[in-house]
This record gives sequence, C-alpha cells and structure tokens, in this order.
Amino acid sequence: MTPESSTLNTSVAGKDALVRKLTDRTAVIGIIGLGYVGLPLTLRYSDIGYKVVGFDIDDRKIARLNAGESYIERIGAETIQRARGKGFEATADFSRCSEADALIICVPTPLNKYREPDLSFVISTTEAIAPHLRKGQVVSLESTTYPGTTDEELAPRIEERGLKIGTDVFLVFSPEREDPSNPDYETKTIPKVCGGSTSACLEVGVALYSQAIQKVVPVSSTKTAEMTKLLENIHRSVNIGLANEMKIICDKMGIDVYEVIRAAATKPFGFVPYYPGPGLGGHCIPIDPFYLTWKAREYGVHPRFIELAGEVNSSMPKWVVEKLADALNERAKAVRGSRVLLLGLAYKKNVDDPRESPTFELMEILREKGALVEYSDPHIPVCPRMRKHDFDLKSVEITPENIAGFDCVLLSTNHDAFDYDLIAKHAKLIIDTRGVYTRPAPNVVRA
Ligand SMILES: NC(=O)c1ccc[n+]([C@@H]2O[C@H](COP(=O)([O-])OP(=O)(O)OC[C@H]3O[C@@H](n4cnc5c(N)ncnc54)[C@H](O)[C@@H]3O)[C@@H](O)[C@H]2O)c1
Repeated sequence: MTPESSTLNTSVAGKDALVRKLTDRTAVIGIIGLGYVGLPLTLRYSDIGYKVVGFDIDDRKIARLNAGESYIERIGAETIQRARGKGFEATADFSRCSEADALIICVPTPLNKYREPDLSFVISTTEAIAPHLRKGQVVSLESTTYPGTTDEELAPRIEERGLKIGTDVFLVFSPEREDPSNPDYETKTIPKVCGGSTSACLEVGVALYSQAIQKVVPVSSTKTAEMTKLLENIHRSVNIGLANEMKIICDKMGIDVYEVIRAAATKPFGFVPYYPGPGLGGHCIPIDPFYLTWKAREYGVHPRFIELAGEVNSSMPKWVVEKLADALNERAKAVRGSRVLLLGLAYKKNVDDPRESPTFELMEILREKGALVEYSDPHIPVCPRMRKHDFDLKSVEITPENIAGFDCVLLSTNHDAFDYDLIAKHAKLIIDTRGVYTRPAPNVVRA
C-alpha cells in the first residue's frame, strides 16, 4: 500500500465512522451560540436522542439553561428541562468542543457602524474551537453570511491546526431558516440546504442534518449554500421595498394598498403577496442583503436593486412620522409635547424579539421632535437596552383610561394580543402602519 492510499483509507474510515455515529444517533452534537437559532436546534437534536452540549459566551444564558429555564417566550421551560433530563448541558468551556462529533455554529452576523459585515463573532468562535478540534469531526456554519466565508475564513483557521478539510475534519455551510411564530413550520419540517467544502464534507453534512430535518437539500458548494440564504432574504427585502413604494403611491392616490394586495393575491399564479410596514425589522432582512453588496464590490459589481430596496425600506419610519405629524397638525397639535404610544416593540407580530425593530427608529425620530413616547407590548414588558437604542421604559397596559390619555397611538406591530376594538374606541388618533383597521374611521389614519 502506498503512503497516499493508506492516508486515503484512514480518512474514508474516519468519514464512514462519523457518518455511522451521526446516523445511529450516538454522535455528540455541540451547538455554539444558544440564541434564537441555536436553542431550537439544540432541543431538536436532544429530542431525537442525541447527547447535546451547548456553548455560549453569555454566562447568564448558560446559568438559566442549566437551571432548566427558558429565556425565549415561545420555548417553554419544560422543553429545556426535558433536554436537561436527556443530558443536555450548556457551558462556556470551549475545551469541551473535543467531546462533540459535530459542531454547529449559530453565532450573530451583524453589520458594523459602517454597515459592513461584522464577522467578528464567527471568527472568534472559529478561533475558540480550533485548538480543540480533532480528527473525525464535522463543523457546520449556520450564521447568515456572504459567499466565501466558510472556505475563506473557517477552512484556513482549521487547517492551520494541522487538520485537513475533507479528510480529517468535514466542513459545511447550512443556513438557518427559522420563522418564529409561524404555526405551520418548525425546525424539523423546514427543508435545510447544505453545501460542503468537498464532496466528503457534503456527505457528512447530509448525514448530520437528515436525522433531525425531514428534508435536506444538498448543493454543490458552501458558496452556493451561502448565496442561497442571501437570495431568500434579498427576495423578501426587495419585494417588501416594492410593497412599501406601492403604499406611498396608493396613499397619494387615495387607494387602500391592502385592498389592492388582497385582490392581486387572488391571482392563482405569478403573484406572491408581500405587505408594507413601518420599516424593516429583525436580525435578517435589514442586515443580510448588505453582506452581499459588500462582497459583490470585491468583484467589481455594485448591486443597485438591493441598495434601492434598502433605501426605500429604511426611509419608511420617517414617512410614517410625517403622516403622524400631519394628522396631529390637522387636530391643531404639534408633535412636540404630544404623548405618543407605540403599539408593539417586537419586529414582527406575536414574537418577543425586538432586534432591529423599526419601532425603535420611530421612537427615536419622535423623541428628537419633542414627543413624549411610551410603548405597549404584551411580549416585552420592559424595553431592553439595544446596541443603538436605550429607552428606560416599561410596557403600558392597554386600558380605556391609558389609551385615552395619549394624543396619538402609533400601531407599528400588529400583535394578536392587542384589543383593537378597545383601542379604536378610546384612542384620539391611531396611525395604523399595518392595515389592521380595514374600515375608515375619523380617528384612524393609514401610514
Ligand atoms: N433568529 C432567526 O430567526 C434567524 C433565522 C435565520 C438565520 N439567522 C442567523 O443565525 C445567526 C444567529 O442568529 P440568532 O438569531 O440565533 O442570534 P442570537 O443573538 O439570538 O444568538 C446568538 C448567540 O450566540 C452567542 N455568541 C456570541 N458570540 C459567541 C461566541 N464567540 N461563542 C459562542 N457563542 C457566542 C450569543 O451569546 C447568543 O446567545 C445569525 O447569523 C442570524 O443572521 C437567524
């Protein structure tokens, strides 16, 4: 046997043994980043019988999870306790990465203050796990990022440790597709795209996910998988941008944009409804498209569509506040000194996630103009401190007296838990950015 063929045979054996462990569920799964993405994935693997170790740098989160508590509203404490009973534990000790056969990275990928990709979390995670990697492990990156990240940023940092990708360690990118509050889909029923650095990596990646997820969609490279996720999110951003522009045109023409969208959506082919709003929110749609525009510039391409959608979407809070100012003006009131209650702090309905919520932007603009702002959100009792915003506020209870005490109610997130009839009955003025109030009323203004 030549030295090459003996290395090849060992690596095939390493790959086959790993695939076997993944398939018979004796593999240990390490999830890095126990947030909105990592925690549900942890629970899914634990549920189907894998031993799971969770890694995070947030000691409070680790302590709460180890105490069997949840910190995400839609995840019940009993599911954490069930996982704990099946051996799940959370830790900040990255030397324990060597215990895991699979390491799945779910850390944040925000933008920096210049609105450029901030890969610092992904890179620090890679550097924290690299010293503890060993032969026969698979590493999967799930964080949304630009095409090339897995092979350009993770692979060299792993190979630097003397481990060869595709023979010693198997590297894949598999984007997350969580849709919090969507009752029709959960982790296991959302098909999962997976691309590997080599064909052996892909084979291991498919083995890793096909136990936990009903349908795995293999693609030819990590770059393809990275780009797939960006296309999905850019598709939403561009179409929401179009819906927002249509809203402004319809407003000028005295047409109800929601009625138009509902009517167009009766077309059984070639039309997908997207809805306007007060601006883009969440950790994905306002951020991810700019990972691609940044990377595209390296290739001499300056994406116009994506930037334009970003421009339209990010101008919406200002447009909404203009509508609010006009409506107050008609009632002989100024924004300065008016009490404004924002309904909904979360970035979308029925969730407790305030990340990148346009409500913050609305509150900032209103506060700058001298309004006295407060908010009500049954899912977020205390306004958390955000990277860019800090409001020392508690959620206002929706009662007839409280609603009547405000000069204006600005509906920015249409949670089902709000009593919209009560609000309509007692509010002096409602600025509705979500099309909740379908019938015209003297105290309702669409924006
Ligand atoms: N939330 C979603 O619905 C969703 C959907 C699709 C994709 N994504 C993407 O998934 C990734 C994670 O998003 P998320 O919503 O779960 O974020 P999150 O902020 O909820 O969770 C990230 C977790 O990673 C931890 N963390 C940060 N740096 C770390 C490090 N160096 N080592 C270990 N842990 C670290 C944080 O403490 C936090 O618990 C992002 O790239 C996001 O764009 C999120």
